[in-house]
Amino acid sequence: MRKVILYTAVSLDGFIAGPDDDLNWLTDPENPNPDPNEYGYLDFLETIDTTLMGYKTYRIILAMGEPFPYTGKENFVFSREDHPADGNPVRFISGDLPAFVGQLKQQPGRDIWLVGGGQINGLLLEAGLIDQMILTYVPAVLGSGIRLFGDFSGYSRFSLQKTELLSGSMVQLIYQKNET
Ligand SMILES: NC(=O)c1ccc[n+]([C@@H]2O[C@H](COP(=O)([O-])OP(=O)(O)OC[C@H]3O[C@@H](n4cnc5c(N)ncnc54)[C@H](OP(=O)(O)O)[C@@H]3O)[C@@H](O)[C@H]2O)c1
Repeated sequence: MRKVILYTAVSLDGFIAGPDDDLNWLTDPENPNPDPNEYGYLDFLETIDTTLMGYKTYRIILAMGEPFPYTGKENFVFSREDHPADGNPVRFISGDLPAFVGQLKQQPGRDIWLVGGGQINGLLLEAGLIDQMILTYVPAVLGSGIRLFGDFSGYSRFSLQKTELLSGSMVQLIYQKNET
């Protein structure tokens, strides 16, 4: 079965965005324009053919003013509202999201990238649907902002598969879901 993989950057205190959705902390002042594959990003993209994201993350991606970055993949944006097609290669999904993602996992294909953000990560963690996490820890403490798993307050356990030091300042941790 294809895996749902949460691949994301995290602050040392567990935030994926700072106050007011700030993402400037993601830029390393020592290495402001890294080779995109330095952190294995392009290799990771080859392993997935589907992305999942919350509507807020989608809006923030669009606000960056670049062409939609995941053209060529099947992209699902979760929202409780109806949205007309906007010209980007996305489908808006509402209703029972865990059931939707559970069915998606049964279909043939490559793995599925859970892009975020916190609300959607928490919802899918709660439903036991995250199979793997690839977390890149950025050496910044943000104090407040958007938590990795939103307001998730349950318990979930993963096993460490791999650690890697990236560009001397970040650490990438790969965790696999425990079966029990
Ligand atoms: N560090 C990173 O690598 C990284 C990665 C991804 C995101 N982020 C950041 O994370 C932040 C966004 O995270 P977030 O937690 O605020 O929002 P989010 O999870 O991206 O999206 C929340 C939205 O998802 C929809 N949603 C939530 N539950 C739903 C349900 N049960 N059914 C249908 N739709 C549902 C709602 O959209 P509607 O309001 O339209 O109904 C809700 O407002 C942004 O700042 C983004 O930049 C950072």
